[in-house]
Amino acid sequence: GRRIGYVFQEPMSALNPVLRCGDQLVETLRHHFDMDRRAARTRALEWLERVRLDEPERILRAWPHQLSGGQRQRVMLALALCAEPALLIADEPTTALDVLRQRELIELFGELRRELGFSMLFISHDLGVVRHLADEVIILDRGRVVEQGPLAQVWRAPAHAVTRALIQAMPRLDEAPWVAPAPAEEPVLEVGDLRVSFAERRSLWSKKKRHTAVDGVSFALRRGETVGIVGPSGCGKTSLARGLLRLVPATGQVRVGRTDWMALAGAALRRARRHVQLIFQDPVAALNPRLPIGEAILEPMRVHGLHDDEGERFERMQALLEEVDLPAGWHDRLPRQLSGGERQRVCIARALACQPRVLVCDECVAQLDVTIQKQVLELLLRLQQRHRLAMLFIAHDLAVVRLVSHRILVMDAGRVVEEAHPDELFRAPRSAMGRALVEAARWGAQSL
Ligand SMILES: Nc1ncnc2c1ncn2[C@@H]1O[C@H](COP(=O)(O)OP(=O)(O)O)[C@@H](O)[C@H]1O
Ligand SMILES: [Mg+2]
Repeated sequence: GRRIGYVFQEPMSALNPVLRCGDQLVETLRHHFDMDRRAARTRALEWLERVRLDEPERILRAWPHQLSGGQRQRVMLALALCAEPALLIADEPTTALDVLRQRELIELFGELRRELGFSMLFISHDLGVVRHLADEVIILDRGRVVEQGPLAQVWRAPAHAVTRALIQAMPRLDEAPWVAPAPAEEPVLEVGDLRVSFAERRSLWSKKKRHTAVDGVSFALRRGETVGIVGPSGCGKTSLARGLLRLVPATGQVRVGRTDWMALAGAALRRARRHVQLIFQDPVAALNPRLPIGEAILEPMRVHGLHDDEGERFERMQALLEEVDLPAGWHDRLPRQLSGGERQRVCIARALACQPRVLVCDECVAQLDVTIQKQVLELLLRLQQRHRLAMLFIAHDLAVVRLVSHRILVMDAGRVVEEAHPDELFRAPRSAMGRALVEAARWGAQSL
């Protein structure tokens, strides 16, 4: 197929992991065109420049695993386009990217199409993305076309309920935030000058150096309060969460209640961990596939010796399932019998089983469909208010963070560059990263 090029959501499946990016391009070019290695290499370099990759020479020599998600998408795009196809089929190519990279890539698709003149079939679950690219839109539901027409018309006057639902599911920036003003309570988590660094080999040739992922972050979190943390991929959000939970080595001050968290070790640390629970992006990885979900919730209660006996723990487990809107009778089901959203509810119930004071949510709705995302967010908010939890809500998408946060910290390259109330941040962002994230949220939202 020289007539058709493809790009997918997960570039690792399209790129050959044992070939350098440059060799893959050179081979593809030589397969399609009559050229020698030298000429193909020059052309490969041109394509890497054309997809706006910085340092094309370096990328040419790099292995796929050495690139970021956004860079890999661009290499895959160069690979698809270098055969000069008449039609490019793009299947959810931006779904795995953060909001900033998503927008850059969509703009690149548009520019290249104008430059090179190919046609494009762009497949996506996200009308907010399609809207910035398509002339014509086809809405599919269960394998059937339910609506079709010029984008402007479908957008303005959607005729089918499925189309309306897709528009409804997009984040709205005119929707009032869900949280009431933050309560004035004592801090339960205090973080001072937290630093996390990793030993990292930058390339095969240079020697190991330390890469600073979190570079002196300070903040306090009060009982009943949610602090949102936003920033692009790689800015250090997950390292911050893992550092303050002491799952990776970190320096600085961390206090949980009156406890000096950094002074804890061994059994004392394990006991204290109960008070700070983490919920992360991937509920599949978080749950043992062979353990019934009821057992997954009972386990931490046993480990920490909560409640008087097994009978009481069993009752508590059933109550927790109901609290996260799952039937109590599901306790003997296995994770694979549940949907993604249901598994995330199990993870939330398991965290609550520890009776924590702080809940740290790291991109905990990023992998869920927009409608399910909203349900899980509503659940988290309800639980937070009922249990007066302090919550650290980490996400790359400001449209989500603004709904649930009392305060927002904007991160860029390991540092907090701005702290603001959600309204303030949208009205007048003070940092460059704050502005970029607000713009990206507007770009992807239903109401501009
Ligand atoms: N285990 C690790 N070893 C080496 N580098 C890491 C490790 N974890 C994260 N990093 C690096 O630290 C930086 C921050 O990563 P991360 O905290 O995952 O960011 P975010 O969650 O905001 O996307 C990135 O440059 C990443 O490559
Ligand atoms: Mg992360």
